[in-house]
Formats: sequence, C-alpha cells, structure tokens
Amino acid sequence: MRSRVLLVTGGAGFIGSNFILEAVRRGHAVVNLDALTYAGNMDNLASLHGNSAHTFVHGSILDSALIARLLDEHRPDAIVHFAAESHVDRSILGPAAFVDTNIIGTFTLLEAALKHARSLAEDDRKTFRFLHVSTDEVYGSLSPDEAAFHEETPYRPNSPYSASKAASDHLVRAYFHTYGLQVVTTNCSNNYGPYQFPEKLIPLMIHNAINGKSLPVYGDGQNVRDWLYVTDHCDAILTVLEDGTPGETYNVGGLNEQKNLDVVKILCTILDELHAEGAPHDRLITYVKDRPGHDRRYAIDCRKLQSSLGWSPKESFETGIRKTVQWYLDNAVWVEKIVSGEYREWITGNYASRA
Ligand code: NAD
Ligand code: DAU
Repeated sequence: MRSRVLLVTGGAGFIGSNFILEAVRRGHAVVNLDALTYAGNMDNLASLHGNSAHTFVHGSILDSALIARLLDEHRPDAIVHFAAESHVDRSILGPAAFVDTNIIGTFTLLEAALKHARSLAEDDRKTFRFLHVSTDEVYGSLSPDEAAFHEETPYRPNSPYSASKAASDHLVRAYFHTYGLQVVTTNCSNNYGPYQFPEKLIPLMIHNAINGKSLPVYGDGQNVRDWLYVTDHCDAILTVLEDGTPGETYNVGGLNEQKNLDVVKILCTILDELHAEGAPHDRLITYVKDRPGHDRRYAIDCRKLQSSLGWSPKESFETGIRKTVQWYLDNAVWVEKIVSGEYREWITGNYASRA
C-alpha cells in the first residue's frame, strides 16, 4: 500500500492504538483524534513519542469545527473511525453516552467528511475513504446451530451498545447512497490482545486471577464469542482501506468460536504455568448474575473478505491467548495505572449488583 495520511478517531483506545502502531510501522502518517475518555490511554502509544508520523489531537468527534480544521490542515487520504463507547455492560447502566458518541458523534464526523470531500478535486474525492469500524453485535444473537453472520444478515441489535453501533452503520450507509461519500464498513467479532482495557472479559479475568480475585462468569458461562487477535483486525482494516469497494461492508472474524467458561479455563491453565504462585487459578471461578439481554452466540462468516481481498487471520487462538497473558504479566505497570479511581468505581458498581 502506498504511504497515506490517515485521520484516526479513537486512536488511544485498545484497537485504535494497535492500529496506529501497525499503520506507522507500515509507513503511514497518522493524525489521532481522541477525547481520552476512561478508555483512552496515551501510554498505549508511548513507543511513538517523538515520532513525527504520529500527531495526537486531544478532542472529540462531537466537535465539528475541530474536525473541519483537522481535515483542512492535514488533508488526509482517509478517515478511520474507531472512536466509540464500546462496553456492553456500561451501555446497560448508562446508555446516553452511547447515543451521544456512537450515533451523534458518527453523524458529526460524516457531515464534516462530506463537506471536506465536496471541496476536493474529483480525482481526490473518488479516492478519499471513510472507513467505519463496526461490530458483529449489530446482527443480534445466534442459536447454537444457526449459520454464522454474513454481510446480508439482517440487523437485530439487542443492547444499547449494539443498537447505537447499528444506527451509526445505517448513517454511514446512507451517506454513500445519498451523497456518494466513499465509505467502507467493517463488522468485526470480539478482539483480544495487548492494551485492552481490563473491563472486558479476557483482560479482566487475567487481572483478577493474578491478584487472587474471583473470576465472575455471567450466567452459565455457555455464551459463545468468536475471538480474533487484535493485529489481525488491524490488518483487515488496512486491507479494506486499500482494496475495499466503496459502499460495501466486510465481516471480519477469527474463525474461532469459544464458550466463555472455556476461555476462562484456558486463561487459568496458562496462568498456572506462567504465574504458578496462585495456582490452581480455576478455584477463583464464580458464577454471577447474567447480563440483561445477554446475546447467546456470535459467529462471523468472513468468506467475502477472504475471497475478494485475500485477508485471513494469521494468529491462532492458542498462540494469541498465550501471548496476551504474557503481555499482561509483563506490563503490570500499564494495568496498575488504569485500575484506580474510575475503574474501581465501575467494578464495584457492575459486580456488586451481580453477587
Ligand atoms: P475502546 O473503548 O478501547 O476505545 C475507544 C476510544 O475512543 C478511546 O480511546 C476513547 O477515548 C475514544 N473516544 C470515546 N469517545 C470519543 C469521542 N467523543 N471523541 C473522540 N474519541 C473518543 O474501544 P475498542 O475496543 O478499541 O473499539 C474500537 C472500535 O472498534 C469501536 O468502534 C468498537 O465498536 C469497535 N469494535 C470493537 C471490538 C472489540 O472487541 N473491542 C470488536 C469489533 C468492533
Ligand atoms: O463482538 C464484538 C464486541 O465484543 C465489540 O463490539 C464490543 O466493543 C466488545 O466489548 C465485545 O463485546 P462483548 O460483550 O462480547 O465483550 P465482553 O468482553 O464484555 O464480554 C465477552 C463475554 O464474556 C460476554 O458473553 C459476557 C461475558 N463476561 C464479560 C465480563 C466483563 C463475563 O462472563 N464476565 C465478565 O465479567
């Protein structure tokens, strides 16, 4: 891929920061717009300190004047839109922020992008891209034997989070069909890997296990997720950015369905080996009250991305999960800086009601 200038939103979060590290490594220049909510963490990008290929801008996708200025100043080849409220449990306890950021924020960004695209010469307007990073949760929940989600599966979001992402996907689609903005959307399954905020299943369980705290499994632990190592997701986004067709959506998945309880047990087994002092860690598994409206199963059919653009996940779950556990063991300082203040309040609020 030729070197590009990318305006990345939400680049201090989990996937956004992994994406920026990879994009800069591949020779792209990045302007990173992030509001630094509880989920944004500049430590994720510490290795880019002093690197002129990364420009950080502290601000919100809700600020249309700021976005217009950034587009005008940096004239990016593409916008890669990660910024969102991303945690389902938080959306259940406080949906308003999800409507603001995920729906109004995406709308604000689309408006600014369209205005900017219209100011470009025709050739540049055709190559300009708005890449919208979305989720498989917009498709709802699968029964055990149902075929995996494909690009034509009807939208049936079940949580305030997935409903807000679905609304943003629809807006993105409408800006292509109505105004001709050159958009592409990716709908990805569950990511895991370095820099994931320890409110999500895998980093939460690793953090709790290392600290001898209970491992709270929601409901019967039989819910299924399709896990993808985060750098494979970043690679998929760069592939779609380069070769994806405007107006199309691409499903991204790990071809790796796992029951939650099995994931937790795998983490315990790896920790028994790498952090033997707390072994056996599975004694910490505790069943807690289920998530309201908990989607039973996600599975992604990513054959379109594989056959039309030649992408496939490179990391296996066996190697990826081991690398992830090792990363959290090696980066205890990164975790410790996060697990104070707001994090503690969240954990107390979310888990006290599940006892
Ligand atoms: P995250 O919560 O780790 O990071 C979100 C980032 O967005 C943070 O840096 C935060 O500061 C920033 N942000 C929030 N509101 C903002 C605003 N108004 N303006 C600018 N920045 C703002 O999220 P993540 O897990 O990295 O997910 C990134 C994107 O990928 C989201 O759109 C999410 O829906 C999507 N996605 C996530 C997964 C997953 O498994 N984590 C899977 C598929 C899709
Ligand atoms: O599918 C993609 C989505 O994956 C993304 O769009 C979301 O941004 C991302 O957060 C993730 O959503 P999930 O709800 O699937 O992820 P989470 O890590 O919160 O939970 C994974 C599963 O583990 C889910 O079935 C709920 C369960 N769980 C979660 C937590 C935090 C537990 O059993 N215990 C827990 O403490």
